This record gives sequence, structure tokens and C-alpha cells, in this order.
Amino acid sequence: MEYTAILVEREDAENIATITVNRPDKLNALNSTVLRELGAAFDELKADETVRAIIMTGAGQKAFIAGADIAELNAIPDPIHGAYHAHLGQELCFKIERLRQPVIMAINGYALGGGLELAMAGDIRIAAETARLGQPEINLGIIPGFGGTQRLPRLIGKGLAKLMIYTGDQVTAQEGLRIGLVDRVVPLALLNEEARKVAINLAKKAPLALAAAKAAINQGLEVDIDRGCDLEAAQFGLLFSTSDKVEGTKAFLEKRQANFTGH
Ligand code: COA
Repeated sequence: MEYTAILVEREDAENIATITVNRPDKLNALNSTVLRELGAAFDELKADETVRAIIMTGAGQKAFIAGADIAELNAIPDPIHGAYHAHLGQELCFKIERLRQPVIMAINGYALGGGLELAMAGDIRIAAETARLGQPEINLGIIPGFGGTQRLPRLIGKGLAKLMIYTGDQVTAQEGLRIGLVDRVVPLALLNEEARKVAINLAKKAPLALAAAKAAINQGLEVDIDRGCDLEAAQFGLLFSTSDKVEGTKAFLEKRQANFTGH
């Protein structure tokens, strides 16, 4: 598929790919085209067995994604279309969350509204020191609609999530690190390198085991611990059908590096 508002780059030698939202003049705001193209790009990469880890970032030095496109929000005529718009963003977040590959969010600047909601659907968030994160929808007379009211309290707790959503205030990358909203903070100049380093490291791991860990953690958090441990045992057991389990254990015993194929 030809993309007009995003870039999709594969690094075949490293088995990684990078998706860049490419509307820097609008701080990479999410219009319907971006949302649809992102959905198509994640589908395309999901189907590509050579891609084992994905980085998502924003073009330019200023913004990861400054939220849903406010001009589009302004033009939504009625509640039905408002709900459609929320579903479009929510489905994209679920797609990222349920992707078999890990998704590293390289937050290179503003991650606001839908930008923070997409970032929270990813697996690992690495932020530039200059990044600012927030859910400012309240200042537009609305609330987060791409899952923010659900994922933010799950990540940072109910009280802090309410504080961020009720006030619309932004937090710095360092504050984000302290409250668990981001996982690592680096200088902006080192962000791409750091995200690539993490992606390349993950791309060397057994892909089916990574997918199993992702599913067990994400699904397990939504159920009680007994059910969560059942999910874990089922995923653990499934991996005993894979060649990579044979290779991983054999390589350890032979004191050599494992070569995982994803089978
Ligand atoms: N939707 C549509 N356009 C947006 C946008 C958004 N979410 N965020 C930024 N833009 C556009 C601006 O309208 C401006 O376009 P223009 O040059 O054609 O006027 C351009 O991006 C640059 O933004 P600007 O506001 O001039 O940059 P700034 O450095 O002064 O401020 C922000 C940066 C992020 C603080 C400010 O752009 C902002 O508050 N954006 C909206 C954030 C938001 O509410 N997001 C949640 C939406 S639900």
C-alpha cells in the first residue's frame, strides 16, 4: 500500500521496522488518513515474519503526536460520528496491543491526547528528555476517546490518571518516568539510537516467546491472578511445540548463542 501521511521503513538485516507519523507541520496530529494508514501499516508488518520488532515515532523534533486532529473533531456533526471516530482510534490501539511483535514507542516530543493513547497501547515507551505527555481533551470540552480513560489509570493509578485527565496538564518526560508512564528517558539526540538498540535486542529473541509473553501480560492484567496464571501456563505450554524452544535450550547446553527462527 502507498502511504501519504506515514513512513514505513524496514531494516531487513536487523529484522526491525519503523513507522513514522509524517505530518510535522501539524505536529503529527492524527487525522482519519493517518489513523487508517497506521492500521494498514500495522496489518502489513504483522503479516511479515521477517519483522520481529517495530518502532513507532513522529517526524520532526517537536512532536511524537499532538493528538487527534482538532479540525476534524470540530467538523464531527453528531454523536454517532463522534462514536465512530472514537472506535477508529480504539481499534488502532487494540491492534497495536494485540500485535504479535513488540512495539517500541519512541516519544520524540509532544505525546498529547490520541498521541499518548497510542503510546500507551505500545509495549515500551522511550521518551526524549524534551517530551511532554498529557490528555488535554478536557480543554476542548471532551474526554479521551481512544482508550485513555482506561489505559492511563491501569498504567499510573486512578488518582494520578484523574489528575491528568481532569486538569489536562502535561507532564515532563522525567515526571512520566517517575509515575510509570514512560519506561526510559534519553536525550533527544540519542532517542532513535536507543529505540533501535532495544528493537534490535528484542528482534534477536524467540518471536513466538515474545508474542506469548505479550499476550500473557496484556490479557492477564484484565483478569484475576488465577485466570492470569492459567493464561500463562497455556502460553508456556504452547511454546513447548516450537523449534525455538528446542534451539534455545540446546544452545544453552552447548554453550553457544541461540539462533531463533520464529518456528
Ligand atoms: N490537531 C490539529 N492541528 C494541530 C494539533 C492537533 N491536535 N496540534 C497542533 N496542530 C497544528 C496547529 O494548529 C498548527 O498549525 P498551523 O501552523 O497551520 O496553525 C501547527 O500544528 C503547529 O502547532 P502550534 O500550536 O502552532 O505549536 P505550539 O508550539 O505553539 O504549541 C502544542 C504546541 C502541542 C502545545 C499545541 O499545538 C496544542 O495545544 N495542540 C493541541 C493539543 C491537543 O489538545 N491535543 C488533543 C486533541 S484531542
